[in-house]
Amino acid sequence: TVSSTMDVAVELGIKGAPEGTLVLTETQTKGRGRLGRAWFSPKYKGIYLSLLLRPKILPNQAAILTLLSAVSICEATKEITGLDAKIKWPNDILMHNKKLGGILTELNAETDATRFVVIGIGLNVNNTKNALVAGATSLKEQKKENINRLELLQEILRKLETNYLLFQKIGSQVIIDKWRNYNITLGRRVKIVCQKEHLEGEAIDIDIDGGLLVREDSGLVEKIMAGDVVHCR
Ligand code: BTN
Repeated sequence: TVSSTMDVAVELGIKGAPEGTLVLTETQTKGRGRLGRAWFSPKYKGIYLSLLLRPKILPNQAAILTLLSAVSICEATKEITGLDAKIKWPNDILMHNKKLGGILTELNAETDATRFVVIGIGLNVNNTKNALVAGATSLKEQKKENINRLELLQEILRKLETNYLLFQKIGSQVIIDKWRNYNITLGRRVKIVCQKEHLEGEAIDIDIDGGLLVREDSGLVEKIMAGDVVHCR
């Protein structure tokens, strides 16, 4: 048991642990999500991991790794369970509009150089209703049978590796193209809540750095790098 695999991975990163270092746990007492939220991590039910990467990228390119992780989860889920997971920008993994999993990307960087990135993945796998928060679902709930967590974990790691190598070899475009296949945000009317700002419009595209392009009713196109997206209709 750890409080959060993120803290362990960041500590290892600071100590110089190599790329590919994986922190895996059966439960967390202080699992955390984006925007300061908690991540409920019931024991033996889900997959909770943090992966340390040392990509040679600028800090402002790190968002691509979040998209890359989301794609890897969808690919692996399809392969192991046959189920279609979808992505809500930037990193919510959904099934039938309920939250199946999430990704938290933490960056350790100087202004112009990335030291390391920790990718945190949380996935609801064999949770039953009582081990799910409101608005969440699990693979078991969707498939009506237990899922082999080890097999799924192995496949997620294989997909992460394949996509990471692809990204390093060819660049972000190939990742973004894959991401489009799974996303349910583009083409929708969205409301974005980030910090104090609110913005509403149509999600028209994804930028090369992973940012979401939103056309407001005035016609002005804004690029969003972070925030909460609400699909309006
Ligand atoms: C989100 O959707 O807000 C992101 C959730 C990320 C949860 C995972 S579980 C493993 C890792 N350790 C944490 O404390 N958080 C991430």
